[in-house]
Amino acid sequence: MADTILVTGGAGYVGSHVVVELAKAGYAPVVLDNFANSTPAVLPRLQALAGRPIPSVTADVRDAAALRAVFHDHPIAAVVHCAGLKAVGESQERPLAYYDVNVGGAIALAEVMGEAGVATLVFSSSATVYGQPDHLPVPEDAPLRPHSVYGRTKRVVEDFLRDLAKANDNWRIAILRYFNPAGAHSSGMLGEASRGKPANLVPLLCKIAAGELAELAIYGGDWPTADGTGVRDYLHVQDLAEGHVAAMRYLAKAHGAHTLNLGAGRGHSVMEVVAAFEKACGRTIAKAVAPRRPGDVAAYYADPARAAKLLEWRASRDLQVICADAWRWQRNGGRY
Ligand SMILES: NC(=O)c1ccc[n+]([C@@H]2O[C@H](COP(=O)([O-])OP(=O)(O)OC[C@H]3O[C@@H](n4cnc5c(N)ncnc54)[C@H](O)[C@@H]3O)[C@@H](O)[C@H]2O)c1
Repeated sequence: MADTILVTGGAGYVGSHVVVELAKAGYAPVVLDNFANSTPAVLPRLQALAGRPIPSVTADVRDAAALRAVFHDHPIAAVVHCAGLKAVGESQERPLAYYDVNVGGAIALAEVMGEAGVATLVFSSSATVYGQPDHLPVPEDAPLRPHSVYGRTKRVVEDFLRDLAKANDNWRIAILRYFNPAGAHSSGMLGEASRGKPANLVPLLCKIAAGELAELAIYGGDWPTADGTGVRDYLHVQDLAEGHVAAMRYLAKAHGAHTLNLGAGRGHSVMEVVAAFEKACGRTIAKAVAPRRPGDVAAYYADPARAAKLLEWRASRDLQVICADAWRWQRNGGRY
């Protein structure tokens, strides 16, 4: 029988793609989400793409009683924990909410997993835990100096999970530090459906190309990079989702907590992304340079060697595929 995997935040941008890839790999995903930042309208699409029924539970990941009911009702073998709040700017204004959901959610989940005897966990962390890197590419043992409340909640949860695994060797935990997830499902049926104005570059380009936003503000044109604009490691969301499947397979044979970068391993500047997007959509993107934002860094991209070695995973879709798939999603409406 297929292993049942609980995906918290499974209705969200990353979680929805993870659900589909898990199902494709022969697992039986169950979605848990409170739809704080997503909609149940994604669920029929997940079922269509997965080709199997996807049970879903509307619950808050901080609600231990609700979690207990999920573990009682489904034969959960492992968990992918994507549920959380992720807006860097908002985290500075709402630290209580961010610590409560991100840290409190992880604690409630680990507690109930412990009670249920489920010890395999894949956690969505973020490259934002590194802050300003000393060297590029960034390896997993680089110093952790997150600039934001959001990044600090991820660092706290990472420490918590490593401490759990140190205290009890039963745990099998993969802490995945995502670089910049971007793009959409190649079917055009799943993608990033931000509420309000998107914060990330590729969704902004989608809205500008579609005429929903006027122009792109490029934060800083004088960074010490080749063209003066910021450089990031863009990772196709389907590559990222496949990384979760690879992590799940790895944990079947590895105990302890394992911290892994998931990134493409190369950086692209804002200008390069704009050019790739213009090529994908056949339109010109209006843009203007704006002042740098506090806390931003010039460049970072992953050293993905550990994931390549341990998970036998590497990103296979390039920037042009990211832009083409994001534009297809936008052309289909860009929302659920
Ligand atoms: N997208 C990125 O750029 C990025 C980068 C690094 C890490 N991450 C992490 O990956 C995870 C998924 O991110 P995403 O981009 O899919 O975000 P998202 O907002 O699309 O998905 C998160 C999901 O969690 C749900 N959720 C929020 N609070 C909840 C709660 N208390 N109980 C149950 N469900 C809750 C939301 O409704 C949403 O469906 C997050 O933990 C995020 O911090 C994302």
